[in-house]
Amino acid sequence: MKSTSNFVDMKKNNEKIAMVTAYDHPSAKFAEQAGVDMILVGDSVGMVVLGYDSTVLVTMDDMIHHGKAARRGAPNTFLVVDMPFGTFHGSLNQTLANAVNIMQQTNAQAVKVEGADEVITVIQKLTSAGIPVVAHLGLLPQSAGVIGGYKVQGKTAAAAEKLIDDAKKCEEAGACAVVLECIPHQLTEKVSAALTIPTIGIGAGVRADGQVLVFHDMVKYGTHHIPKFVQEYANVGTSIADGITQYVQDVKNEEFPAEKHQFTMKEDQLQQLYG
Ligand code: KIV
Ligand code: NA
Repeated sequence: MKSTSNFVDMKKNNEKIAMVTAYDHPSAKFAEQAGVDMILVGDSVGMVVLGYDSTVLVTMDDMIHHGKAARRGAPNTFLVVDMPFGTFHGSLNQTLANAVNIMQQTNAQAVKVEGADEVITVIQKLTSAGIPVVAHLGLLPQSAGVIGGYKVQGKTAAAAEKLIDDAKKCEEAGACAVVLECIPHQLTEKVSAALTIPTIGIGAGVRADGQVLVFHDMVKYGTHHIPKFVQEYANVGTSIADGITQYVQDVKNEEFPAEKHQFTMKEDQLQQLYG
């Protein structure tokens, strides 16, 4: 399994980091077998798996439940688990207890927290307690209610300057990587150049040190709105829909199960049964 220092080396050597989200045993297994460098058990689980309309509804129990399943599917891949909404804005001691709970129950390698400002002290606290922390800047889905939706961030010079400054503060506080979500590619380039730790982009262009995508978006599995920054690498939704539609027809028409799917009782036993 790779470590946080491996990721810093990869950045130094211009070797890109490939990350994908996973929320359960099969998705994590697919990710590990494909050779991803890191898996994120994102709180996006709330939207793409649990049917919530935002990540605000995701709980510690949700993250731990899905984190454990993902870990079982990918025992040998660096696993990052999101700290969900509201679990790292109380006291630092409560935040630490929540992070410890996630780490111990899911056997993750790191947690991820959204934001800068007061979150900088959170990064410091967790890191000094021995918990690697991935920071997350740019579009912060947990703050969509405050920002007013899901919009590209850091588009003005002032906002870009603040984001660069925030990223530096995350690194100084001990973050092992920074996710950059939905920012202009030029800003991504600046942030990446300003840091020693790797940047992992989503909707942040090609100049990030790595990329992350939401599993269900990239394989088109049950997701309705696919953001502009997603490449469709597979379309499992269509094959699932076709398969299940065919199944329903086959059941109605008695074309399923076929002979090969049935179990058969031996003739002598049948005779005993019916006499
Ligand atoms: O929850 C998630 O999937 C994320 C990624 C978008 C980075 O935080
Ligand atoms: Na997230």
